[in-house]
Amino acid sequence: MATKNGAAVAASDIAIERIGYGYRPARGRPVTALDDVSLEVRDREFVALLGPSGCGKSTLLYLVGGFLPIQTGSIRIGGRPIAGPGPDRGIVFQHFALFPWKTVIQNVRYGLEKQGLPGGECDRRAREFIALVGLAGFETSYPSQLSGGMKQRAAIARTLAIDPGTLLMDEPFGALDAQTRSLMQAELLRIWQGSRKTVIFVTHDVQEAVFLAERIAVMTARPGRIKEIVDAKFDREDPELTRTRPFIDLVDHVWNLVRGEAILAQGGIAQGGIAPAGVAQRGGDA
Ligand SMILES: Nc1ncnc2c1ncn2[C@@H]1O[C@H](COP(=O)(O)OP(=O)(O)O)[C@@H](O)[C@H]1O
Ligand SMILES: [Mg+2]
Repeated sequence: MATKNGAAVAASDIAIERIGYGYRPARGRPVTALDDVSLEVRDREFVALLGPSGCGKSTLLYLVGGFLPIQTGSIRIGGRPIAGPGPDRGIVFQHFALFPWKTVIQNVRYGLEKQGLPGGECDRRAREFIALVGLAGFETSYPSQLSGGMKQRAAIARTLAIDPGTLLMDEPFGALDAQTRSLMQAELLRIWQGSRKTVIFVTHDVQEAVFLAERIAVMTARPGRIKEIVDAKFDREDPELTRTRPFIDLVDHVWNLVRGEAILAQGGIAQGGIAPAGVAQRGGDA
């Protein structure tokens, strides 16, 4: 175990220090996506990155994943600077990134085979994680035969099967209907409580962030900075949690933090308090 200032650094401690990132597209003007972002995520912690569309959440997640090169600042995991993607970090993308020509079990086996696990072991693990996400019986289905929620479950099974210390999730439930999303959130908490991985969960949904994460890093509109880090320590086993006063008050508090940023991101009038309907978006944001 490495040490930092004399303190032990666990394998999945993530230290993001003064990260800046700019895109320089061949066409169009350069975009500063992130500016001076610092955040520490402790081993086995569940942290949400919350902010309006276009504030740089995905960019930050991809930097941690090693999919984008570091331009300014540093990111260390377990005390070591990251150098590209690795099996220690599993990523779940916003859109179900399954191979359409492979069945569910072939998709889940893919990463295991790449790790060089023997065939029987790949099969055993793949089935175990398919069952864990509630897809037993759908092993030989193709993605086109599954609903959106089932596809995202398969993608999560594929990532979990590799047993990464860190899970990076980019709005994984964003494309699901409200009911499926709520079921998947509960499922994710159950999985996290069972496996205790370090999770960075990107979302623009305040309620989702407060429901899932122990801490919420609220980001500003572009260029993304950390505006405030909010503690959200709750008894997540309580089925009535979302109806309790402390939960409702925290959603309210976080919503107030995010609201002004969302208006800025929309190119609206910050003083107005409410974004005018149909305001023009600023410079090419999605
Ligand atoms: N490949 C790219 N080329 C140019 N600009 C980009 C690219 N990817 C993202 N951006 C811009 O960088 C900013 C941050 O994007 P992103 O990290 O995707 O935000 P978020 O995930 O919070 O919606 C946005 O303004 C977006 O338009
Ligand atoms: Mg994004």
